[in-house]
Amino acid sequence: AGGQDLAGRHVVVSAGGTREPLDPVRFLGNRSSGKQGWALAATAAARGARVTLLAANVELPDPAGVDVVRVSTALELREAARKAVADADAVVMAAAVADFRPAEYATGKIKKVDGAEPAPVVLVRNPDILAELSAERAFAGQLVVGFAAETDDVLANGRAKLARKGCDLLVVNEVGDGKAFGRDTNAATIMAADGGETVVAHGPKDVLADAVWDEVAARLG
Ligand code: C5P
Repeated sequence: AGGQDLAGRHVVVSAGGTREPLDPVRFLGNRSSGKQGWALAATAAARGARVTLLAANVELPDPAGVDVVRVSTALELREAARKAVADADAVVMAAAVADFRPAEYATGKIKKVDGAEPAPVVLVRNPDILAELSAERAFAGQLVVGFAAETDDVLANGRAKLARKGCDLLVVNEVGDGKAFGRDTNAATIMAADGGETVVAHGPKDVLADAVWDEVAARLG
């Protein structure tokens, strides 16, 4: 990792996992800890970048020298991302965004009724924020980076996802069997739309974060 190679750059990182509310006390959520996004924000700041961290439901304290914007739902994350990326050289979507949200939000707590079955929960799709940011870049040359967690056919699925999302880089990691989620370590392949592939051996999340910034810095020129 190279000194202050992100000095003068603005980077946006999303972290954590969105929560999609059913009623004031319940939500659909996921197990993302936010640790990889935190590591991305901290390492970018250490390399001189101005960092905006979009944090979805993360319990961790704010990393030093980073602007933290706290959000909860996918729709809130999308709004915060749209604002933050206007002048960003690179955006890294490390957050686990819920693909679906409940179609309806009950303003009062949903109650059980004696003798009655519960009402089914109807879901609707959330926007794909990564795909939107890739398709509607704030300016030519803005770099967009996604993450993908795959359980099988990791590389083939990663390549297909990179194309589908339209991003420049996709950090593909293997999950399942206690890998990645909530842990302090990660292993990944960083795939590039230009064909490049960088394997990052199993190790601390800040080592993977620095490897991602190496790829970003090389492409920012
Ligand atoms: O499609 P999948 O969820 O595997 O893609 C993961 C990548 O896409 C991550 O970078 C995640 O932040 C992003 N994503 C998104 N909006 C969604 C779903 C995923 O930005 N609705």
